[in-house]
Amino acid sequence: MSASERLRQIRIGGLVPRHVAVIMDGNGRWARQRGLPRHAGHKAGMRSVREAIEGAIEAGVEVLTLFAFSTENWQRPRPEISALMGLLRLYAHREKAELREQGVEVHVLGDLDQLDRGTRRAVDDIVRSTAGGDRLRLNLMISYSGREEILRACRRLAEEVATGARAAADVDEEAFEAHLFTAGVPDPDLLIRTSGEVRVSNFLLWQLAYTEMYITPVLWPDFDREELFEAILDFQRRERRFGRVSAV
Ligand code: FPP
Repeated sequence: MSASERLRQIRIGGLVPRHVAVIMDGNGRWARQRGLPRHAGHKAGMRSVREAIEGAIEAGVEVLTLFAFSTENWQRPRPEISALMGLLRLYAHREKAELREQGVEVHVLGDLDQLDRGTRRAVDDIVRSTAGGDRLRLNLMISYSGREEILRACRRLAEEVATGARAAADVDEEAFEAHLFTAGVPDPDLLIRTSGEVRVSNFLLWQLAYTEMYITPVLWPDFDREELFEAILDFQRRERRFGRVSAV
């Protein structure tokens, strides 16, 4: 089935996921299969990022959240970290005009204090340049850990309770969510993970509570909009019950 045929099927299929999150995995394996260094896999992965964004816009997805660099990724060898940060700067520099034209509003979420000064500046720049885009919200998760995000929210709520700004009994889901990086964003409807691994890997631990998961063996650099459309079609065939029983 061609991309346009898949898109047509999505349109008649009904509900499009409002928020799609992606664990972009398999860059290293893609490079190794070709006898290339790992950073070549990350570089090739940038093309898939573009494909995912354009596909999301075409399908009518409102929010796309990409796991670009985890807190654990800081443990990788220095040269690989430098290559990834370099790609991030390149991406911000090269794509910001195009993203703005496409109506993509970029948010970069995570522990950004860990970034070097140049990368931090590039990140702030792409966020500023694309502010106000109203076709797609793109969350780039960088230096991100789901557990850390939860602890950060707990610390902030504890401070509010300690200072008397909030009663302990008022710590509810709404208050908690307001302290997550994703405050104000609906939870993901669909999580896609490439390269066949069946793990959540410390990604959006709170937000994924009722998210439908789609695992594909495709390595991230081979991912394109057709793969995204396939995942959305699969999502449309499912019945979401949110812990309840189905309507008969
Ligand atoms: C996982 O593959 C991928 C990453 C750690 C980085 C993701 C980065 C990109 C797709 C490129 C840059 C993105 C932006 C937004 C500029 P892996 O290295 O864990 O692969 P492996 O499991 O096969 O070793």
